[in-house]
Amino acid sequence: MDDQAKALREMIENARMEREKTGKVDLISLKENRNTRFITITSGKGGVGKTNITLNLAIKLRKFGHRVTVIDADLGLSNVDVVAGILPKYSLYDVIRGEKSVVDVAEDGPAGVKIVSGGSGLLELVDLDSFQLDMLLEAFEELERVSDYILIDTGAGINSSVLKFISFASDIIVVVTPDPASITDAYALVKNIQSRENNISVIINRAESSKEAKEVYEKFTTACDRFLKRKIKKLGFILEDQNVIDSIKQQIPFILKYPNSKASRSIDLIANSIENSSEHIVEKSSFKSFLKAFVKGNS
Ligand SMILES: Nc1ncnc2c1ncn2[C@@H]1O[C@H](COP(=O)(O)OP(=O)(O)O)[C@@H](O)[C@H]1O
Ligand SMILES: [Mg+2]
Repeated sequence: MDDQAKALREMIENARMEREKTGKVDLISLKENRNTRFITITSGKGGVGKTNITLNLAIKLRKFGHRVTVIDADLGLSNVDVVAGILPKYSLYDVIRGEKSVVDVAEDGPAGVKIVSGGSGLLELVDLDSFQLDMLLEAFEELERVSDYILIDTGAGINSSVLKFISFASDIIVVVTPDPASITDAYALVKNIQSRENNISVIINRAESSKEAKEVYEKFTTACDRFLKRKIKKLGFILEDQNVIDSIKQQIPFILKYPNSKASRSIDLIANSIENSSEHIVEKSSFKSFLKAFVKGNS
């Protein structure tokens, strides 16, 4: 990893020097001012609704007029492509090997959301050689150019490279359900997030009532606050809703199929809250700085 870390740092430094030489500095800072927001959606335990939340949230943000890309970094079963009803031909794996550009790989998903399949490449970040890192970095720069929001749907975070990956994301949404195992696993996840500079928010999914959602939220955030000294922001809750299950069967995201359902109205509120929160980091939300931090943290 040391060599890779060094290679990436050199690459970033060379790119910076090149920009300064060619006078493209202004262009670059302009781009960074556009401020793409990277949001990583994760959980302690699998099957809590991450993929559905990611995709439906992406569609809502798209409907606000933003350019939205979803990166499917979950290697598990319920992938974004299944929920979105698409069949991606390529993934970041092809990009990393230098065989496809990220634009070739991005599929048109519902409502004009772009979907990039992570393949095995993304989560094996630690094993990439410098060529592959170069390709990945370029791919993310390209995605940043064409996206206002990039939502990354990860697998469950405990005991895997996912954890390392999400540790350095600036905006993290942890999805929790009222299931006690989901709460304790989410707590363990937060405990293991190495960087302390990220915004961590929570969404309570599959609550029977707003009262139950509030109780789960209190339980979770109080534990994180008291024992980990980490403030977790409440982003919202989504009720248990049969429409979610029906929409999955039909492979049409619930926000499109049942826009007035309880779940859709919750997504509306959450999207509004994301849109209006000023806490999200400006400079740090670039993926380049994320990768830099990631590599530094692993070297
Ligand atoms: N709000 C909800 N109401 C009812 N069922 C839900 C809700 N959210 C998720 N589910 C159920 O949970 C399953 C897992 O959701 P999914 O988004 O694939 O989770 P994850 O990505 O965390 O593994 C879905 O197939 C659906 O049956
Ligand atoms: Mg999933």
